[in-house]
Amino acid sequence: MTLIQFIAFATLTFFHCLTCAQLIPPPSTGISLSLNLISALSPQSPIYPGNLSPSERIQKMLQISEARIMYLTSTMFHNDEMFSTNTLQHRRFYAYFAKISLGSPKQSQFLAVDTGSGLIWTQCQPCVNCYNQSIPIFDPQSSTSYKKLLAGDPHCKENQTKQIVKPDCSYELVNNGESLTIGFASTETFTFLNNKGQEFTLPNIVFGCSNNNTRMPFVGTKVSGVLGLNTAPFSLGIQLKEKISNTSRFSYCLHSSSQPEKDSTSLLKFGKGAVFPNGKKYQTTSILKNNFNDYQLSLESISIGEQPVTFPPKTPAVGRNGTFLDFGSIVTFMETDPYNVVMEKFDEYYRSIGHRRVSPPPETEGKFDHCYNYGGNMENFVSMTYHFNGNASLKVDPLQLYLVIGDAFCVTIISSKSFTGTDFTVIGALHQQNTRFVFDLDKNVVQFAPEDCSKDK
Ligand SMILES: *[C@@H]1O[C@H](CO)[C@@H](O)[C@H](O)[C@H]1NC(C)=O
Ligand SMILES: *[C@@H]1O[C@H](CO)[C@@H](O)[C@H](O)[C@H]1NC(C)=O
Ligand SMILES: *[C@@H]1O[C@H](CO)[C@@H](O)[C@H](O)[C@H]1NC(C)=O
Ligand SMILES: *[C@@H]1O[C@H](CO)[C@@H](O)[C@H](O)[C@H]1NC(C)=O
Ligand SMILES: *[C@@H]1O[C@H](CO)[C@@H](O)[C@H](O)[C@H]1NC(C)=O
Ligand SMILES: *[C@@H]1O[C@H](CO)[C@@H](O)[C@H](O)[C@H]1NC(C)=O
Repeated sequence: MTLIQFIAFATLTFFHCLTCAQLIPPPSTGISLSLNLISALSPQSPIYPGNLSPSERIQKMLQISEARIMYLTSTMFHNDEMFSTNTLQHRRFYAYFAKISLGSPKQSQFLAVDTGSGLIWTQCQPCVNCYNQSIPIFDPQSSTSYKKLLAGDPHCKENQTKQIVKPDCSYELVNNGESLTIGFASTETFTFLNNKGQEFTLPNIVFGCSNNNTRMPFVGTKVSGVLGLNTAPFSLGIQLKEKISNTSRFSYCLHSSSQPEKDSTSLLKFGKGAVFPNGKKYQTTSILKNNFNDYQLSLESISIGEQPVTFPPKTPAVGRNGTFLDFGSIVTFMETDPYNVVMEKFDEYYRSIGHRRVSPPPETEGKFDHCYNYGGNMENFVSMTYHFNGNASLKVDPLQLYLVIGDAFCVTIISSKSFTGTDFTVIGALHQQNTRFVFDLDKNVVQFAPEDCSKDK
């Protein structure tokens, strides 16, 4: 089916479905949908901070990462201390955004893309308590395709695990007992725009119409809500299964941020297009079941170059509180014990080839701890490999593993405990760059293989 045919089909089914209660059956197994994943610091970003100097860029990357890990700490480990004090200072804790339109006629909104959230939500009129967003708030009353779900709707169930939409079809996203956003589950026609300027229109996407928001990080920006990508019901990956290709699969390949102005958007693909190039070899590891519906993986060991790091039995690579794949953080955070073991190996390696350990450059605000003097090229820089369950190895090349800052280069890994008082590992966006990840939520696995993401189309 061509795009035009598909839109025609979608439109037809949509009008047909005004009178039917059931979701439409999958149109065919052939649809591929992609949308731009806009990095926070790129000119298209709804929180574009302007043209930054390299130092300012590093500071911003660290601030986004820091805010993200505090948010995760607060949601996953209920340690709210840091969230309420520090995060509020620089609350823009998302690294990627997407521009989508909803309604008929279309109303454009920017959503933060979050692999740690489920329900898609956006601020909605009439507001009880909306934060000030700098583009008009979505107004369901000017859309002919908007439908508020009513109690009794099959989407609104009681006591389902992972289910946040209540029987009366209201929802409340809560963080540490404090409500963040409250609203009504609804359905609407969504329009996604890809990198080629093509539009994909899909009817009846379930989303949250939020009209009572507190402590939201987007005040004063164009960002109106969140696009959830985790494994919970109503996340976009899960919803698109019924709509585009009978698979809950999505994929991305993050551009290297070394040329921020050029390589600013990556693609988020769903359905048929969320695959590796034909014949490409890829690695597969399982997604661990966890209460957060996040992408927690089983990290078994780490190698520096070709050398496996020996972890003492009391200090396994995986740590004790899990390893999360989350592009909401830019740098990587690691549990303190494995961090210390791994960093000792970097020290040994660089000492052996004559690099001095130096104090972290001021731009890093002391957050990176392991920096060495830079000799002018990356020739002898060593790579690092994460080994996950299933013999799945994710190699991080030097370009993603280090940041060169003036006369020094630093390993882009931070001990999480030094930041948040909570120990867990988050593999951030930098270490994911130039690898294609495919999340297959039917098989509950993450697959990956190296790829030049600047060539992703
Ligand atoms: C909302 O933001 C706009 C600019 O983005 C500003 O002019 C206006 O005063 C703000 N309103 C409130 C209530 O903060
Ligand atoms: C839902 O869960 C609550 C407590 O978790 C319980 O009291 C209630 O009976 C449950 N309702 C149903 C319909 O299972
Ligand atoms: C809005 O949410 C707050 C909790 O965050 C709640 O106290 C308040 O009653 C809500 N307002 C309305 C009108 O529902
Ligand atoms: C969808 O996938 C399931 C297995 O995951 C298969 O049984 C079913 O036939 C598929 N439906 C269509 C319409 O392809
Ligand atoms: C693990 O993968 C490596 C290459 O990636 C391969 O050489 C090795 O044989 C594999 N081991 C097992 C047990 O499959
Ligand atoms: C995480 O792991 C550490 C040990 O590394 C443990 O002391 C701590 O209680 C765990 N939980 C949290 C929330 O940090």
